[in-house]
Amino acid sequence: MTARVAIVTVSDRAARGDYEDRGGPGCEDWLRGVVTTPLSISRVIIPDGRDSVAGCLRGLVGQGVDLILVTGGTGPAPRDETPEGAAEVIEKELAGFGEEMRRASLREVPTAILSRQTAGIAGKSLILTLPGNPRAIATCLNAVFAAVPYCLDLIGAGHIDTDPGKIAAFRPKTT
Ligand code: MTE
Repeated sequence: MTARVAIVTVSDRAARGDYEDRGGPGCEDWLRGVVTTPLSISRVIIPDGRDSVAGCLRGLVGQGVDLILVTGGTGPAPRDETPEGAAEVIEKELAGFGEEMRRASLREVPTAILSRQTAGIAGKSLILTLPGNPRAIATCLNAVFAAVPYCLDLIGAGHIDTDPGKIAAFRPKTT
């Protein structure tokens, strides 16, 4: 079965067309390079803001999207409200994702400590919030993605496999 993925770029300027969205394509390229099973990927660009993010995520969860990657708006600036919007929709937070993304990113830039990335479950969707910068996206996804396929199994979402040469998906033996 084809797993459904939504990529949400959160950026006032990208939504207005002031600059080209690079975060959304960065997420998609990373996924297409790593996931070996069929994916249907949709992309959307929305303005920053708690209501904007919460409304978009509610809609995607309602549609039964398996994996939702959100990029941008995780910093401390006044318009960075992605974590607040995601928190309105997330039913179970998975704090380890944010911890590991920050740990990996801090090896590259000290300002990674400013990032408020998180993850969580809503309905049968796994939501991951990522920074806006495409290089940071790859660092973060590389750090946490090994746990994503099994998490999707556990919540009854779509099945995905990865190229073990890139990311070795870990599924504990349950016998
Ligand atoms: N993580 C990595 N790996 N590389 C980076 O350059 N930038 C940080 C952080 N995480 C960064 C990073 C900065 S400066 C900020 S403000 C936060 O991510 C949030 O970014 P966002 O507002 O684009 O989501």
